[in-house]
Amino acid sequence: MNDLVAEYIKRTSKSRELYEELSEYLPGGVGSHIRWFEPYPFYLDRADGARVWDVDGNCYVDYVMAWGPLLFGHRRPRAVIEAVKRQLEEGVIYGIPSKLMRSTISMIKKLVPCARAVKFANTGTEAVMHAVRIARAFTHRKKILKFEGAFHGYSSEAWISVAPDISEAGSYERPKPVPDCAGITEEQASNFIISHWNDSEHFRRVFREHKDELAAVLATPINTGLGAIPPRDGFLQTIREETEKHGIPLIFDEVTTGFRVGRSSGQGLYGVIPDIATFGKIIGGGLPIGVICGREDILEVTDPAKGTHPVAGTFTTNPISLVACNTMLQEIERDENLYERLDKDTAKLVEGIGEILEREDVDYYLSRVGSMFQIYFTEGGKEVLNYRDTLKIDRKMFRVFFLALLNNGVFSSPRLLGRWYLSAAHSSEELGETLAAVEKAAKSLKKLKTA
Ligand SMILES: Cc1ncc(COP(=O)(O)O)c(C=O)c1O
Repeated sequence: MNDLVAEYIKRTSKSRELYEELSEYLPGGVGSHIRWFEPYPFYLDRADGARVWDVDGNCYVDYVMAWGPLLFGHRRPRAVIEAVKRQLEEGVIYGIPSKLMRSTISMIKKLVPCARAVKFANTGTEAVMHAVRIARAFTHRKKILKFEGAFHGYSSEAWISVAPDISEAGSYERPKPVPDCAGITEEQASNFIISHWNDSEHFRRVFREHKDELAAVLATPINTGLGAIPPRDGFLQTIREETEKHGIPLIFDEVTTGFRVGRSSGQGLYGVIPDIATFGKIIGGGLPIGVICGREDILEVTDPAKGTHPVAGTFTTNPISLVACNTMLQEIERDENLYERLDKDTAKLVEGIGEILEREDVDYYLSRVGSMFQIYFTEGGKEVLNYRDTLKIDRKMFRVFFLALLNNGVFSSPRLLGRWYLSAAHSSEELGETLAAVEKAAKSLKKLKTA
């Protein structure tokens, strides 16, 4: 491990300089805490397609893809860039409702199965925060049932029990809500009821115990907080059946799965339609946006004339983000076999990675949905189904793999459960380079095993 860190430091002297200077006044030297990793992050000079270049001139094949939004790659699709350029000349922000909302909403309604009514925010975090408050305003109840290990952004309406310390998280049968940062209070966390991903029995029991106080069930169609853990057969259907039977709104947070796993997102892929859904990342075409959509009767609480939940914000529905969103959705609609190509390319890459790891006798579990996947280093390649399974991942192996890939020109997520994303810009050349880097990284893992 130390040799990998030393090699990284040798290759990134300008990044190190920047990091040391920035850290003096920008704590941690990064704008978003998940971009930080040990010993320090590299700093970017430029990006294009599937590649990024750091300030030291190193080139990396990028699988982080800005943490999800870049479905077509960096500086793509060109149509979004051209549309944004035109809109920059027309006006960056109006603060007055614009006609652009009509065309953007009509694209959202066309592609998102549950989108009968639509509201906008600026980020995924904001969209989920509003969705939770909307459900509370609609039901006049407080409590939210969510799944341990599911991430829904950083608001106190959702950043609960994402990565709880197991000593505070209660027993498996009776999981406790735990705030994920010091600024979220115990009182805020106490509004959450926690269940386990992929455990229909547990969900049914906890749901029935609390159904009379629930404002909503909040879930991602695929648990991306755990990497990329899809629902087991029937799990989402159980959630939908129970919530429908008892009239509790079901919120699908599609900030990451939206337009990543298919043209109709997670809800279309699994055929489970929520009452409210949130979007961010890809839907913004690279610009910041949040979308809350769903049943008209529920979203009516946001109608300023009669509503009880204001959705507001200086930058909300700014024309640049609206134009980028509209154009991105048009591009997704236009490219007929986009998702088939992404699926095929990702399957090929994942197969190649699997073959290499097996050849080097490395224990791993790999989970993929469309163009996102996660490699878990678990003993005997044990399957990961829920948050508590992730606690058994070998963190040292993860770190060695990450650093060895980085030193060989591949940037995968520095976060243990961060996911790999392919974009339409990843060509066979980049996939080939990636497999060559995986060969070397797998050798480092083997060395670790025999050390
Ligand atoms: C499922 C999910 N919800 C919400 C968010 C928060 O979105 P944002 O980073 O745009 O605030 C994320 C971000 O990764 C996410 O993965």
